[in-house]
Amino acid sequence: MALYSEKVMDHFRNPRNVGVIEDADGIGEVGNAKCGDIMKMYLKIENEIITDVKFETFGCGSAIASSSMATELIKGRPVSEAMQLTNKAVAEALDGLPDYKMHCSVLAEEAIQNALDDYYRKKEKEK
Ligand code: FES
Repeated sequence: MALYSEKVMDHFRNPRNVGVIEDADGIGEVGNAKCGDIMKMYLKIENEIITDVKFETFGCGSAIASSSMATELIKGRPVSEAMQLTNKAVAEALDGLPDYKMHCSVLAEEAIQNALDDYYRKKEKEK
């Protein structure tokens, strides 16, 4: 059996939503101290719906595929749904990751959570 699913390879080779949102409503950045990989997520939110999402990932193929899939899973979805996104759901949507690569999907979950926290912090300040 191949180590990586076709979906992982597809999202690694053709990552969706790569880039930066200059006027993002929420930005989240996380890193894994062990492997040194870094992931940054940018969210555009209107009326509690994630209208746009982009990412920059300096990391392994699984981290790139996880970020790409995670952006697809939350784009166009309500913020409340994005808050529930788990790394397991990201890995499942990729048809699985090898056990020792599961931490790469954790980065995607954490980056989105951080970006949402940032969004709520900014919203609080505006009040
Ligand atoms: Fe570090 Fe994949 S090896 S995120």
